[in-house]
Amino acid sequence: MSVRRLADDSVQPQSFAFSNDNAAWAQKRIALYPAGRQQSAVIPLLMRAQEQDGWISRATIETIADMLDMPYIRVLEVATFYTQFQLQPVGTRAHIQVCGTTPCMLRGAEDIRAVCQKHIHPDAHHLNDDGTLSWEEVECAGACVNAPMVTIGFDTYEDLTPERFEEILLAFRDGKGDTIQPGPQNGRRFSAPLAGQTTLLEDPKPTRGHAKGGRIETDVDATKPGRKQEIDEEAAPAIKGPSEEGKVSEAEAKSAEKKAAGPARRKPDQAGREGATGAESPAIEKTASETGEETKTTGRRPSRAKKPQAEE
Ligand code: FES
Repeated sequence: MSVRRLADDSVQPQSFAFSNDNAAWAQKRIALYPAGRQQSAVIPLLMRAQEQDGWISRATIETIADMLDMPYIRVLEVATFYTQFQLQPVGTRAHIQVCGTTPCMLRGAEDIRAVCQKHIHPDAHHLNDDGTLSWEEVECAGACVNAPMVTIGFDTYEDLTPERFEEILLAFRDGKGDTIQPGPQNGRRFSAPLAGQTTLLEDPKPTRGHAKGGRIETDVDATKPGRKQEIDEEAAPAIKGPSEEGKVSEAEAKSAEKKAAGPARRKPDQAGREGATGAESPAIEKTASETGEETKTTGRRPSRAKKPQAEE
């Protein structure tokens, strides 16, 4: 949570005015909103003013409030709420925003901040001696995978070391900021591994082919367009069709289906296994009792070894 107040009166300009181009842009921007809703242009106008002068002064706030027919306090509330708006004068050549959130902090943001303190000012939001540089610490800028990083203007400078950042800072101080390539400063591409890409190295885009001795021949070779390429079937299961051995006739398929469904079609009193006589079913037990065969009243299930009398 930062305390955001307007700059000291000693640095406040007496007036503010958009340049001709920016004034024309502002009028077009205001006209985008329906009648009575022009106040919605307050953030775009504040941002444009900051792009022009580098920071938002009291005069800027009052001028924009007049343009949008708003009370000064309403524009002041907006300008002091969003940390994107600079309320103090910034360096004429660069305002450096050092990310100090956890990933950058773990990767050396404190050393980057120390470079700013050495070359600009020990405290944030102060200018260096010739007024060309200023710095502040900000929260995550969304380039954590390339930590530590800083933002200067609309560009980010990532994968920094204190030494490399010092070179960048001094280049901006000397008016040579445009010689520095934004992005990763350690040679990697975007956020790819430093040693180069390690995954998704192939882009086979296989076309339909025919099996040939366990391999599928396609017309695509990602590295040599037009040449045929063999792809192992195991590596491309989605493009291989059924093998000759795997094909079955319709009759064989129906037979297999019948076999699989067999037990479900048997009568309830059949055991459903090879060699069963059905003697263990309750219906047969009753029949044996009715024929006078001696049964024990142990409460246990009759022995399966006992066969119906008719069979003995
Ligand atoms: S933590 Fe620094 S860019 Fe996200």
